[in-house]
Amino acid sequence: MIIYKKINDITQHLDNHRKEGHTIGFVPTMGALHNGHISLITASNIDNDLTVCSIFVNPTQFNNSEDFEKYPTTLDNDIDLLELNDCDILFLPSTDEIYPPNFIKQHYELGALADVLEGKYRPGHFQGVCMVVDKLISIIQCDTLYLGQKDYQQCLVISKLIELKGLNTFVKIMPTIREDNGLAMSSRNKRLQIGEFNNAATLYKTLSYLKNNIAPGDVNSIISEATNLLTNNGFIVDYIEVANEQLEIISNWDGKSKTICLIAASINNVRLIDNLILT
Ligand code: PAJ
Repeated sequence: MIIYKKINDITQHLDNHRKEGHTIGFVPTMGALHNGHISLITASNIDNDLTVCSIFVNPTQFNNSEDFEKYPTTLDNDIDLLELNDCDILFLPSTDEIYPPNFIKQHYELGALADVLEGKYRPGHFQGVCMVVDKLISIIQCDTLYLGQKDYQQCLVISKLIELKGLNTFVKIMPTIREDNGLAMSSRNKRLQIGEFNNAATLYKTLSYLKNNIAPGDVNSIISEATNLLTNNGFIVDYIEVANEQLEIISNWDGKSKTICLIAASINNVRLIDNLILT
């Protein structure tokens, strides 16, 4: 695996591959890699001639400075994992490389998508995500971008960004990889104590309960049962919502259309998100 820290160096290398007609798959990450990230590397390796991963803990998408400061970094381990899983190139830029002093902030018109769920609870978060992903995809110019369903709203936001930019980059959304107890793998899980980690399985249990019990009609009573399940297990719940695939919130299910349940909840100040396709 080749590691690049400078935009000029990586673009030169990728230009040579493009001239050869090689396809490029890209997996953007913030590091502290786990099997969820690696599943994206594997998918890209299957589909493309070249796989590029980036690790950059993007300051502009953290609306909470403590969350940014406590974000885990495990670079040596990340490099080992990427090499073991045949990643071709790691892009490891500094903050100055991504946001030089002359960097001009844009506003991305994300519409209603930016105001619900994570958008509501983390103001500015998706603008920060767009800022960094816009920059990264303009550097890597990949054919396919690999994202995880774990961050479902982020998948829609980045798809919208690609539409706004008029790019023909293909977005592939890969399934959520889970721990044995059902907890969605996440870099933030590293901040959980063992007892909290075991308890955090309640998140997936709650989603499964909703999947098994959702019935046509009003969904509010099942959502309050789910909220109780989480609060009784020590969680502070930001939201539990049922929505359609475009993330329009549903309060009355017609019994036919596709639905997804999305949850954000904290355990001892570690904020976790997860979702499950219900129907
Ligand atoms: P990060 O949280 O490191 O996630 C990088 C990618 O891995 C995202 O597409 C995310 O959805 C995916 N991922 C995380 N956990 C997963 C799991 N358990 N199963 C499958 N995929 C999973 O998301 C970000 O970084 C950042 O916002 C980023 C897009 C890199 C922009 O800074």
